[in-house]
Parts: sequence; structure tokens; C-alpha cells
Amino acid sequence: MAPKKKQPRASQDLKPKTFIERVSIPLALLTLAAMLSPISQATLAPVFGAIPSAVNHQKAVIATSLLGILLRSLLPKPRRGLVAQYLAVWAFWIPVVQMYLFKLSGALGPVAGPALIGFLSCHTIIIAATYAASEALEDIREARFSGLYSGTVRSAAMQLLTASTLVYLAPSRLSLLALPALLHGFFANPHFDSANTLDVLNGALLEHNWTMLDRQWSNTGYISVLESLDMQYRVMRCDHSLLGGEWLLTEQRRQQEGWKVDEPIYSVFEMLEAVRLVEVEPPIVDAEAQALVVGLGVGTLPKAFVAHGINTTIVELDPAVHDYATKYFGLPANHTAVIRDAVSWVDETASEGKDKYDYVIHDVFTGGAEPLALFTVTFLRNLRALLKPHGVVALNYAGDLTMPLTNRVLNTIEAVFDGQCRIFRDTPPIPDMAEEKAAINEDFTNIIVFCRNTDGPITFRKPTKADFLGSKSREHYMLPDPAHGLPFPPSHSMDKQVLKQGDEHQWSGQQAESAIKHWYVMRKVIPDAVWELW
Ligand SMILES: *[C@@H]1O[C@H](CO)[C@@H](O)[C@H](O)[C@H]1NC(C)=O
Ligand SMILES: *[C@@H]1O[C@H](CO)[C@@H](O)[C@H](O)[C@H]1NC(C)=O
Ligand SMILES: *[C@@H]1O[C@H](CO)[C@@H](O)[C@H](O)[C@H]1NC(C)=O
Repeated sequence: MAPKKKQPRASQDLKPKTFIERVSIPLALLTLAAMLSPISQATLAPVFGAIPSAVNHQKAVIATSLLGILLRSLLPKPRRGLVAQYLAVWAFWIPVVQMYLFKLSGALGPVAGPALIGFLSCHTIIIAATYAASEALEDIREARFSGLYSGTVRSAAMQLLTASTLVYLAPSRLSLLALPALLHGFFANPHFDSANTLDVLNGALLEHNWTMLDRQWSNTGYISVLESLDMQYRVMRCDHSLLGGEWLLTEQRRQQEGWKVDEPIYSVFEMLEAVRLVEVEPPIVDAEAQALVVGLGVGTLPKAFVAHGINTTIVELDPAVHDYATKYFGLPANHTAVIRDAVSWVDETASEGKDKYDYVIHDVFTGGAEPLALFTVTFLRNLRALLKPHGVVALNYAGDLTMPLTNRVLNTIEAVFDGQCRIFRDTPPIPDMAEEKAAINEDFTNIIVFCRNTDGPITFRKPTKADFLGSKSREHYMLPDPAHGLPFPPSHSMDKQVLKQGDEHQWSGQQAESAIKHWYVMRKVIPDAVWELW
């Protein structure tokens, strides 16, 4: 009879489907290996004595741990998970092999005996476990580069992997106490990114009338989309700030309040749209206009520009932000997306050729503070070089008007655009707030700056119905209110210096201060519980 050819079966292939599975196998292996170390010692003690059994044990554990990692990088790689499969079988045979080897204890003696049997009963497992852990780390790296890099890796699972390593380095029976925490991680921790914990998360958020639509870790941080169920609005958050959001068009809002479209929650983006209203010669026609938008957010402004038929290029660092703006905030596909760091892209594009855009909109914000590299003389000069002679730029800077950094940034904008600018804040200084703000000596606001490329005053034409795109809030907020105007350059500023490339780090202290102020602002926007549950 011809030997049956061995068919690899799907179920044999341990290749894990999801990240959580990939990480959890070596996690458990490391934990088990760590627990095995004292067990092995205990089984050797009756035969060789506790002290001879323990000689060099810790050193040997470290050596064999390293050996496992080394073998992973030196040997040809077997099928993923294969080592773990053999390990499982071998673990059952250990007591059997041990029992027979103990019969040789007289011949082996108390030095070679514990060394040999200890190696077989404990260190073979350790080698395999660290081998599998290295395999998992490769997975993590791979996944990171293939775009699968998720919250699992950065948060909960990574914490558990570290914890398992600790258990492994400092093993004891106490490790058993960690088991419930491990299970909690997999089944009850909302920060653990898997299907069942998203349910756990949404169950918890529901109590606060919120729901999580999507989330992922990305290159600028943790990005998620949340929806308020009672207030009917949707936001995109990055770390501890909101990038923007929309009030949803509900049947009730349509019928009772006459809404026609989703309305932005922040008026600042609509104010930036007033860049289209700036009167220039010759006038810019939407159908022929080219726009560059640096910083996407939820896409309120680019969405409007595309709707007006303006050929729009969006430069956004974070692919997740672009993905979510498209999926959850209706960013239409007919635009050019450049998912890159704006500093290098603007530098390259400016050196390729000038005079490309009629409008440039600069609206960047991450992690509670402006990325200062996008406010240096170098960057802003490159941006100006991209403007056509009659072009206009609109910049948004979120900051505290009482802070020197804010003045420095505004000075820089003024210097680069030769003072051909006008500046507005998005909210008026509210009288009853003024006292409170003065008391804590701060004035955190969005500051919007419009500048022309060529000499001339900044004046706005009267908006028409078409400019509003059916939005009531645009009707209300788009045209900047002269009452919100600020003196430009800031009159109380003694400091006339500008922000140069390479100076950014000098301001990290003030940026931290600013991020802390922003944190308080954000806490007022969305309830604590929602921030805490992520
Ligand atoms: C959630 O919404 C319901 C219905 O609108 C309301 O009665 C309840 O107080 C809200 N809960 C919270 C925590 O805001
Ligand atoms: C994008 O598509 C929409 C709908 O088809 C259209 O109204 C708009 O003019 C287009 N915009 C651009 C810039 O092509
Ligand atoms: C729109 O912008 C892109 C990117 O700058 C450019 O390649 C394309 O030629 C433009 N299209 C029109 C119709 O101006």
C-alpha cells in the first residue's frame, strides 16, 4: 500500500487570523513558561535537593531565553505556530521523560543531574516560548508596516505582553493572581481592540448616550469617530482633541428647523471658507480655481470647496483621518489627496514650480497643540510661493492670545505676507467670560488670518445663497464679523521676532502649557466618561 501523502490541513495551520490571536498565543506561552520554572524546580528538589537544583537556575533561564530569541533569528523559519504545536505535545511528555531520567540520578550526580533534567523539563519550554515571542514581535512589526497596526499593539495587548515578560523574569505562584486580569483584558477591557470589547465599549458609552462608530491607532495618534445619540452629532477625535464634527440632519431638524444639510459643529471652518469671498483682481472663478488645503480634519472646508467645483488638493499626514472623513463625514472623492507630511511636500512642490494655487488653506492641529514646523518662516514662504499672484491664504491657529508663542506665530505670518493680512477670532470675547478668563489670565481661541499675495486691502464680497450650500450655520458664520477683528500685528506685542526653522523645540514648554489649556477646553465639549472610555 502506497504511503498516504500527508496533507496539511487548514486546522493544523495555526496562523492566527486576527492580531489579538497572534499576540495572545505567545503571551500565554510566556506566562506558562514562567509558571513552569518553579514547578520544574519543585519536581527536581526531592531527587537532587532544593539547593543543588537551584544552582545557576536563574542564569540558565536568562541564557536559554536569549537562546530562543537567537534561534528565531538564526534558523530557517518554520511555519508560523509550528513550534507552539510541538511544544504542546512535548509539555505532556516532560513528566514521563523526567520519571525515567530520575532513575539515572545516581550516575548523573547532583551537578549534571539537575542540569540535564532541568534543561529538558524547563528550558526546552523556555526556548520555545521566547522563540514564539520573537515570532510575535516580528508579527507586530509586519502588521505595523502593512497597516494592520492597531490599538491592540499600542495599548492593552502590549501592556499584557510586557506583563507576561515580567512574570517570566520574576516567576512565582503569585503569577496565578494575574490570570483574572488577563481574562479581563480579553473580554472586558474596552481599550482592548477586538469585536467583543467594542461591544463592551459601546455598552458603557450608551449609558452616556454616546456610541463609537470606528477607531484605530494611526501615525498621529488614536483616531476615533463618536456619535452623540441624544444630541445627534458626530465627531472625529484625535488623542484628546476633536478635529471637527457635524450636527446630523434628522427628520425633526429638517421639518421643524428647516435644515437641508448636516451642519458643522465648529464655525471656524466656515469662517475659513470666507477666503473665497476676499476681493481680488482679477476675480477667482470657482470652476477654474485651484485650492490647496493643508490639514483635513473632518473635511468641512474641502467638502464645501469641492461642492463649489473648485479643484482641491488636500495634504494630510494621517491616512486614518482621510479614511474617516470620507466614510463618516461625506468627503467626496473628487479631490486630490496627498497623504504626507506637509513640510516636505510643500518644500518639494514649491521648488518644482510656483504660482499654482488661487487659495491655500492652512489648518493644522494635532495633540492639543499646533505642529510648529508648519508655522516657520521657511514653511510659510514656501506656501506663499505656491500662491498665484492674486491668490489668498487663510490660516487657522488655535492658541492663547496672552501667550508669547501666539504672538511669535502671528508675527511670523505677518512678516512672510508683508502685512497684507487681516485677523479674526472665531468667538467674540464674551463679556461675562472675560472676567473669568482674566482671572486665570488666558484667552484660548481659534485665530483666523487672511492674507493676500499682492498688495491691497482684505475686503470680503457679500456672500450669495450659493455660497452657503444650504447650510444655516454658514449663513450665520461664514462672513467674518468685524466685531471679531483683532489688531494686526498684535498691538501689545513687544516681540517682533519670527519663528525660524529649527526654533520649534524652544517652544515646547509653552506648547505643553497650551495643550493643557486645550485639554480643559475639550473636557467642556464632551463628557469626561466619553474621553475616559476612549
Ligand atoms: C440620555 O438620553 C436620555 C433621553 O434623551 C435622557 O433621559 C438621559 O438623561 C440621558 N443620559 C445622560 C447620561 O445624559
Ligand atoms: C465633484 O462632484 C460633485 C458631484 O458630482 C460635483 O458637483 C462637483 O462639482 C465636483 N467637484 C469637482 C471639483 O470636480
Ligand atoms: C486639479 O489639480 C490636480 C492636482 O494639482 C492637477 O493635477 C489637475 O490637472 C487639476 N485639474 C484641473 C482641471 O485643473
